[in-house]
Amino acid sequence: MKCRKCPSTASIELKRHNSALCKDHYLDFFDTQVGRAIKKQKMFTHDDQILVGVSGGKDSLSLWDYLLRNEYDVTGLHIHLGIGDYSSNSFLATKEFSEARNADLITIDLEKSYGMSIPLLSQTIRRVPCSGCGLSKRYILNIEAYKRNFSVVAMGHNLDDEAATLLGNILHWEIGSLARQSPSLPSKGDNLISRVKPLYTMTEREVAANAILRGIAYIEEDCPNSLGAKSIIYKEAIDSIELHSPGTKHSLVSGFLDRVRPIMETSQDEFNLNDCTICGQPTTSETCSFCRMWATAHQKARSNNP
Ligand code: AMP
Ligand code: FES
Ligand code: ZN
Ligand code: ZN
Repeated sequence: MKCRKCPSTASIELKRHNSALCKDHYLDFFDTQVGRAIKKQKMFTHDDQILVGVSGGKDSLSLWDYLLRNEYDVTGLHIHLGIGDYSSNSFLATKEFSEARNADLITIDLEKSYGMSIPLLSQTIRRVPCSGCGLSKRYILNIEAYKRNFSVVAMGHNLDDEAATLLGNILHWEIGSLARQSPSLPSKGDNLISRVKPLYTMTEREVAANAILRGIAYIEEDCPNSLGAKSIIYKEAIDSIELHSPGTKHSLVSGFLDRVRPIMETSQDEFNLNDCTICGQPTTSETCSFCRMWATAHQKARSNNP
């Protein structure tokens, strides 16, 4: 198959764009799409100080690489979750990437900073690991960005992630989550830092192609806790529709963002944010869910080992 733009052999076929591109034209296309998403959603400019959450996977490393190549003021933040070999390999891939590019990296070890790894936390509070893990990632990225004066938190979620989350929110009519689902959430007050997802228009396959063609060494293994997770089931369902109808993922997410979310935003009452009585971070209740979760974990650990 030939590239649509030059006589070279195509490296990737893009069915949803009815196109096929060689390595160089694909890498240009990737950068153009990501740049457009950043602009369209007014995510950040070169005046912002960006903290990017890095797991060592293809998405977050591709994002960090894009931000560095385009000379944004960016620092990586890796949270060591303590999930066996998966976390050790995630940390190694992140560290090697940052050293090879001389890029600034902050590492937070969950066990050292908060007292428990994700497996121990989930065992202690008897909740699936992913729920405490997702909450911890969001919280730590926000509080570290706030303490260190970053203006934006960037995350590597791709189009498949966004489509799966949207499908889950629709299937269960999670109206609050739907109203907040956005690739660009503005800051609120001075302690809720703006959170953006610059890769939200690129599929998982397109981001993997970028990482491979750019020679980014990322970890391919998925978190062992993701086996059987709802998000994987939703991704498989959407993948099978996409196979028959290329472009479905994109129309699902962009249709929601362009046509449905604006109506939800205007009909939603502004929710009030208070400062958490324990940590001072923003919350809709008195104590934030992160502090509540860790208070329960430490209380249970004490009663299990008096
Ligand atoms: P996931 O929830 O694993 O799909 O990850 C979504 C995004 O969260 C990634 O693209 C990263 O930006 C961020 N992230 C995931 N794991 C970590 C981690 N261990 N440390 C810092 N950021 C992370
Ligand atoms: Fe958090 Fe798997 S990465 S539970
Ligand atoms: Zn070409
Ligand atoms: Zn708190």
